[in-house]
Amino acid sequence: MEQYIIKGGKPLRGEVSISGYKNAALGIIAAAVMTDETVKIENVPDISDIDILLKVITELGAKVDRIGKHTIRINASKINTVRADSENVRKIRGSYYLVGALLGKYNKAQVALPGGCNIGSRPIDRHIKGFDALGSEVKIEHGLICAKAEKLTGASIYFDESSVGATINVMLAACMAEGQTTLENAAKEPHVVDVANFLNSMGANIKGAGTDVIRIKGVTKLHGSEYSIIPDQIEAGTFMFAAAASRGDVLIKNVIPKHLEAFTAKLLEVGVTVEEYDDAVRVMAKDRPGSTHVKTLAYPGFLTDMQPLMTTLLSLSDGTSIVTESIFENRFKYVDELTKMGANIKVVESNTAIITGVERLTGAIVSASDLRGGAALVMAGIMAEGFTIVENVEYIERGYEDFESKLQKLGAVMAKVDSNDLKAIKKFKLKVG
Ligand code: EPU
Repeated sequence: MEQYIIKGGKPLRGEVSISGYKNAALGIIAAAVMTDETVKIENVPDISDIDILLKVITELGAKVDRIGKHTIRINASKINTVRADSENVRKIRGSYYLVGALLGKYNKAQVALPGGCNIGSRPIDRHIKGFDALGSEVKIEHGLICAKAEKLTGASIYFDESSVGATINVMLAACMAEGQTTLENAAKEPHVVDVANFLNSMGANIKGAGTDVIRIKGVTKLHGSEYSIIPDQIEAGTFMFAAAASRGDVLIKNVIPKHLEAFTAKLLEVGVTVEEYDDAVRVMAKDRPGSTHVKTLAYPGFLTDMQPLMTTLLSLSDGTSIVTESIFENRFKYVDELTKMGANIKVVESNTAIITGVERLTGAIVSASDLRGGAALVMAGIMAEGFTIVENVEYIERGYEDFESKLQKLGAVMAKVDSNDLKAIKKFKLKVG
């Protein structure tokens, strides 16, 4: 097991470039198997969740060539099974996009129920409702999502509540259904738009992605394409909050500032300076942040993934803040760890954190239990006095490319060490004093 050791207290300064969006890449890689022609995808983040999905499609018979750190070529003309049932499928959430992709292309799919971060119960009923409406029969059998159809037929589908996963998954299948599909109360997140743009570049006919009504005219065939994935709004947000939390000055490059508006608004509200450029934002802070109230919502609201970063920033605020989680019911697990570092946070009714700002955090041994909560603990380590150890970094590496080296380049004093390597820990402490 690896862990980060961090010596806190140093403001982050400099420039960082943001990688491609994990959550868009997962949908796009699944979509790539829907054509027999070759697809070239650029700006693919180099993270473990993507490696795992690429292994899964290889297991199905697709040919994947890495032609650079961030560029891959996929040819799925030799897919020889629609059954995705390996251990890899269960390790990540995004593997469930193979249901929509395989169902669309072959009218059948058998995909193991997905894994992913334990942040709530995460049912897939809305995905199933959509596949049903397109004329497929969907059953959960022996831990697999089994979907099959004589043929898929376009339909009008209303999602009671918006879901990113269900919108993308049903959109994938509907692309190759006969006739027109309308998705109402569809998710509007940037990665829904990116997957739709990619599918359109392959010859799909999708209109309205980014609004709550998506209209899809089915096509019989998709063709090869070259496509570049959008920057990761969550990675960008993480560096924005880390810059503010460390009271530093960081230029965050290769971003779409529009996707960051909800984060920018909250940072401005607590007294942080944010300057927007065409494809960059600069975040500067000198003092303790002010307090505020935040509720997580679907896009363009404040993203649930940024909730742990927001709560952690507010732990040092000058006042009392309330953060309400309305998307996932189990996304405050990191709070127990933060309190070990001196934060004063009380979680009530499991979805509301009442944060009484303290003047300082102090380093401690803490453990990541999911991706974004883990990133928040690293940020806390950078904010804290003394040494912090963040255990279970594999959660963080699922979704952040070169996390420690990007932070190190901004001046963070940190290293990744094996948890059994006591000598390395001692050496780091001696070196940084
Ligand atoms: N939901 C249902 N039924 C469904 C689908 C969703 O009840 O059939 C519920 C969920 O339990 C949740 C809400 O609806 O309460 C929203 O879920 P959504 O489907 O929008 O989320 P997701 O597709 O499971 C994706 C990202 C998450 C991100 C959320 C919200 C991927 C692989 N995951 O999850 O990303 O938090 O959207 O934006 O794209 C992460 O990157 O760390 C991460 C967890």
